[in-house]
Amino acid sequence: MSDKKAQLTVDGIDGTIEMPVLSGTLGPDVVDVGKLTGKGLFTYDPGFVSTAACESKITYIDGAKGQLLHRGYPIEQLAEQSDYLETCYLLMNGELPSAEEKREYVETIMNHTMVHESIVNFFKGFRYDAHPMAMMCGVVGALASFYHDSLDINDPEHRRISAHRLIAKMPTLAAMCYKHSKGQPFMYPDNNLGYAENFLHMMFGNPCEPSTIDPIVAKAMDVIFLLHADHEQNASTSTVRLAGSSGANPFACISSGIAALWGPAHGGANEAVLNMLQEIGDESRIDEYVAKAKDKNDPFRLMGFGHRVYKNFDPRSRVMQGICDEVLGAMGAENDPLLRIAKKLEKIALEDEYFVEKKLYPNVDFYSGIIMKAIGIPTDMFTVIFATGRTAGWIAHWNEMISNPYKIGRPRQLYTGYTQRDYMPLDKRK
Ligand code: CMC
Repeated sequence: MSDKKAQLTVDGIDGTIEMPVLSGTLGPDVVDVGKLTGKGLFTYDPGFVSTAACESKITYIDGAKGQLLHRGYPIEQLAEQSDYLETCYLLMNGELPSAEEKREYVETIMNHTMVHESIVNFFKGFRYDAHPMAMMCGVVGALASFYHDSLDINDPEHRRISAHRLIAKMPTLAAMCYKHSKGQPFMYPDNNLGYAENFLHMMFGNPCEPSTIDPIVAKAMDVIFLLHADHEQNASTSTVRLAGSSGANPFACISSGIAALWGPAHGGANEAVLNMLQEIGDESRIDEYVAKAKDKNDPFRLMGFGHRVYKNFDPRSRVMQGICDEVLGAMGAENDPLLRIAKKLEKIALEDEYFVEKKLYPNVDFYSGIIMKAIGIPTDMFTVIFATGRTAGWIAHWNEMISNPYKIGRPRQLYTGYTQRDYMPLDKRK
């Protein structure tokens, strides 16, 4: 803690209220307002725009610089030199693994990929056209019913095994969602394959013939998982922490994170980007949509643009842009009409005064959707893939919270409803 203090004077309250100012290793100082309630005051910050809800050592973002660090390592270096599972290990354990630790970790994860056969019955209960994110909320929450009685969240070993199970089973469940919608048989995992390869095998393989997986696509998939692995206290991670703060089962907490991720302002944006490009339909209509996005009276926003924290550029989107070019080149899809619309839209928005002034840059979801479309992943699966990658961050944050002293999350409110009034009997009401 620093020696800095913040002082607050409030009309109607005698004297000055002094509050400690906390300094992290990076980032802005934080005023500790915890004692304000003793003075009869709350702070008001809808959307948590200026509120640090917890202390964390996992991920750091400097939105002005366009910097994203996981345990101190820049995302660009991890994307280029590491892989998804090593990044999962890093997020959870705080350090990169040694070669032996990495070998053991990968083996452990790949040994947990299968889901209980009864999970198949849950899928049978879903309509063929159920949204895969709806199915994911259900089946990941359902995992709690398989691992509840034996799970003591205060035991670090139990927490570690829960993390392994989640990271291992998410691709299996994600692929099951897709197979269910196609009416195709579920594919069992092949633990001899790499993490991303195995996911592609379960998505696109069938039991009648061996899977063929393009290494460029497998590498792109792994980087997509990696780039989504964590992003500090975003809406879904904060949801996981809040749900976890009551001591709830971690599988249920991750399910709540999946629900929070689903919306188009968060993980659902990658799906929304593709839907928007399809709606635009032709390069000649881009100006019309840019005008709509700028019109204050029109709720339309350019999906895949803007970010609450990044006000310079999203470092993940730069990496994603590189992979996008590589994958589309390898698949001969450079002339894909939607891609052409995307490229033109990007150029116009980057030069447009409105977007420049408001610092609205393409975010990670802008390019990830285009890559996934080229790989053959259907649009409604995009957010499921985001959820699969983000599971590493969710469970690392949940574990960090439970490993340290924590309180149940319980925000307060600015109440603007009725003051007290007397109950009106039914026959006296208008
Ligand atoms: N298109 C047009 N105008 C925009 C956009 C956009 N995509 N994003 C923000 N603005 C405008 C907004 O209208 C507002 O204007 P004004 O100040 O005149 O009222 C200003 O920019 C600030 O917007 P905000 O909503 O106050 O900013 P925020 O930090 O609360 O929202 C955001 C961030 C990501 C929700 C928002 O930029 C957005 O809705 N973007 C489109 C959806 C999207 O791509 N989401 C993915 C985010 S990255 C992946 C993830 O984290 O899940």
